[in-house]
Amino acid sequence: MALIISLTPILYLCCFGLFVSSVLSAKARHFKWEVEYMYGAPDCLEHVVMGINGQFPGPTIKARAGDTLVIHLTNKLHTEGVVIHWHGIRQLGTPWADGTASISQCAINPGETFVYRFKVDKAGTYFYHGHYGMQRSAGLYGLLIVDVEEGKKEPFQYDGEFNLLLSDWWHKGVHEQEVDLSANPMRWIGEPQSLLLNGRGQYNCSLAAHNSKGSGLPACKFRGNERCAPNILHVMPNKTYRLRVASTTALASLNLAIGKHKLLMVEADGNYLEPFWVNDFDIYSGETYSVLFHTDQQPTDNYWISVGVRGRKPATPQALAILHYQSTTASKLPTIAPPQTPLWNDYSHSKSFSKKIRARLLGSQNPPPITNHRRIFLLNTQNRIDGYTKWAINNVSLTLPPTPYLGSIKHGFSNAFDQKSPPDSFVNTYDITRPPSNPNSTYGNGVYMLKFNTTIDVILQNANALNANVSEIHPWHLHGHDFWVLGYGEGKFTKKDENKFNLKNPPLRNTVVIFPYGWTALRFMADNPGVWAFHCHIEPHLHMGMGVVFAEGVHLVGKIPDEALSCGLTGKMLRSKTHN
Ligand code: C2O
Ligand code: CU
Repeated sequence: MALIISLTPILYLCCFGLFVSSVLSAKARHFKWEVEYMYGAPDCLEHVVMGINGQFPGPTIKARAGDTLVIHLTNKLHTEGVVIHWHGIRQLGTPWADGTASISQCAINPGETFVYRFKVDKAGTYFYHGHYGMQRSAGLYGLLIVDVEEGKKEPFQYDGEFNLLLSDWWHKGVHEQEVDLSANPMRWIGEPQSLLLNGRGQYNCSLAAHNSKGSGLPACKFRGNERCAPNILHVMPNKTYRLRVASTTALASLNLAIGKHKLLMVEADGNYLEPFWVNDFDIYSGETYSVLFHTDQQPTDNYWISVGVRGRKPATPQALAILHYQSTTASKLPTIAPPQTPLWNDYSHSKSFSKKIRARLLGSQNPPPITNHRRIFLLNTQNRIDGYTKWAINNVSLTLPPTPYLGSIKHGFSNAFDQKSPPDSFVNTYDITRPPSNPNSTYGNGVYMLKFNTTIDVILQNANALNANVSEIHPWHLHGHDFWVLGYGEGKFTKKDENKFNLKNPPLRNTVVIFPYGWTALRFMADNPGVWAFHCHIEPHLHMGMGVVFAEGVHLVGKIPDEALSCGLTGKMLRSKTHN
């Protein structure tokens, strides 16, 4: 009896508390950021990196669903513009805050400040990164974690959580990389020197070399060099942890495993999954996942978390972190060798993983409409234009215009970009198994104008690159939307492949991979007024033209802040207004 009495006020307080907090929880979170070049040592060697407020990677933003983020971003770069894209945030009602130079806004000039103000409407694991030139490759990125609204619960439970931001790193500076890629003949940047976990790697040495089954690399000496010491995840035995993983690599497709621990996949790109267990999982640039794991292994040992390259012949050592059971000392290296990354060209492993990903149907995720209004086929090929090596979509290699599309469409500047839409498909005799018979393509900056509120299908069609027997992985990312992944297939897509579409529980995502010589089908609603990039998330590929631009309902877009319009034709328009 006494127990019941004493519990009652607690219950009462707690429910009252929940009620109050769900009313009060949504708030504006303010940040003042300065972007600059600085010295860092991402993989123990000193190099120039892009930092935010002196930090590399940039600060992790933590927010709750429903919050408004207000980021005052000042460009301290002196010689170049900057923008930041909030990858996975749909920017409902704020398309000018999407942070894509030439698409949603003008690049922020040196010394100037732009205010990104937008709502994070959905809990999940996200990140942000530079979206001008190749600034993402230079290290302009960080995590954006959105928790459920106060008083709401995730559909799974855990005792603690960790974040791992994955990236790849070259010793050659990004400006030089850019010149290499744009040169005639093109000079390929090659494989990254290091993989970074939360911005840290160990160049040309292996933490695991102390073990008999080490990597063949010399062991790392950390004494006096703590800044490139490995990440350590401190865990208690017999608990459940959530590991949030985001990949912002410039090039590498990766695979992550934790020695002896199974992983339960629960979230992808800010959407819940029908949970499934794996030993390891692939993650492509632009993707995020949450996995749960139980610390049910021998608590007197520590374990390796390993990350290795997939889909390209690796020339980069695995990145390692330590899962540290608190009953041991953190500096005790695991006695078991790190998990081996599956063979780089074991695509069936990758495909079977991708095909296991299903939406969790409980909750707010709806199945897709069963039909589409328009289907766009996008053939991606490697091509040449006047001897320059490019990537093209339906034979058009994307070049961005000086006036951002959002402003030029909204204000009716019909001379701001090619008014002819790029093609919705490619010749059906195209042989995707060989190098293009006529490799010549053209530059273009036309837009796919999508009728507002219609259902759009995209069939991404992979093909052979310029060299025989080469077809690469491309992770495609859509801004402003999540899409349903309806299916993957081999070879050229044909009408009867539709029968294999998953219309029941396809996952909602913002990034999806297209496998070599295969196709990937996706569907989305063109229901977010704005202009949105859809592109390969491999930085050099985007730089070489691998992307398209979608526009929908631009007449419904509210007043675009002047600061987003200050360049090109819209800039001229603003200046002539102030003179009148
Ligand atoms: Cu994270 Cu346009 O990309
Ligand atoms: Cu690509």
